[in-house]
Amino acid sequence: MATPGLRELAAARGLWVGACVAARPLADDPEYGEALRRECNLLTPENDMKWGPIHPTRERYDFSRADAIVQFAAAHGMAVHGHTLAWHNQNPEWLAPAADSRAGAIGILREHIAAVAGRYAERVDVWDVVNEAVAGDGTLRGTLWLERIGPDYLEIAFRAAAAAAPRARLVYNDFGAEPTNAKADGIYQLLRRLLDVGVPLHGVGFQCHLTDKGVDLESFARNLERFAGLGLELYVTEMDVRLPLGTPGQTSALGTPLPATPESLGHQAAIYGGVLETCLAFPTFRAFQTWGIADRYSWIPRRFAGTGAALPLDDQYHPKPAYAALHERLAAA
Ligand code: XIL
Repeated sequence: MATPGLRELAAARGLWVGACVAARPLADDPEYGEALRRECNLLTPENDMKWGPIHPTRERYDFSRADAIVQFAAAHGMAVHGHTLAWHNQNPEWLAPAADSRAGAIGILREHIAAVAGRYAERVDVWDVVNEAVAGDGTLRGTLWLERIGPDYLEIAFRAAAAAAPRARLVYNDFGAEPTNAKADGIYQLLRRLLDVGVPLHGVGFQCHLTDKGVDLESFARNLERFAGLGLELYVTEMDVRLPLGTPGQTSALGTPLPATPESLGHQAAIYGGVLETCLAFPTFRAFQTWGIADRYSWIPRRFAGTGAALPLDDQYHPKPAYAALHERLAAA
């Protein structure tokens, strides 16, 4: 390769750079694996370590796809970021009826974390222990775990993760809390309280699912500053920047959404570059990850109709201006 990939540049700075990954294209699409090997020294399973996929029935775990991802990472010298041990989405159907009392719910949560984090204790370097526990107004989100266990479910989850995976970095991860808004304030208070009572918590993840409005970088920097002040490591865990692909319902003659323009791609590049540059100013910034390596398998067009083209590589794995922006920031001294 004439130019180094992002991976080589990040490694030279002692950083992780990566993407979420799915087991199916890893098995089917050789270009996918090739792009991951070139660009990433850290991978997050996109869905395959979530409760539903990995623990489909009360008595049975299905580690097959998570194992395949972890083996791919090990074979190519990549670290793994596990996702996630307590969340309100993508839970198996058996869970709500089974977790029918506080003691029952705590038992199920502990048993699951012991099994999953324990299995990958030597292979998963970072865990999103709790995902998205805070609502937009900064209070705890009403989830199954909050309802059945109470607010100490977070502490229980982090302690169980530390017991099962003593070498992993343990992270709280959320979205929409990049600037200093009410949600970020709530997360800050929550994590401060957890640290005060000695909960094993090492980092905070900012998902960074952004639109073409980007994020106020000054506010983002102030926010990172206060979390770093708690002694926490900083992670960008799921970045994408979705672009409007034509007005809703409007498509090309072939029925496909209208493509991004040079202007929108340039604007997107500035957002990616700005976020990474802001993070690089913090000594405890550990990892920059995008939610997918290339537009080909991005969740965005399915989740946010009329938008797409959200990642640094396009659906043919060609670098976009956003890729160049990341490359430039990582290469800068
Ligand atoms: C998304 C996946 O990308 C999709 O494939 C799935 O259908 C839904 O979940 N925040 C998270 C991720 O923490 O787990 C979500 O991933 C995206 C938002």
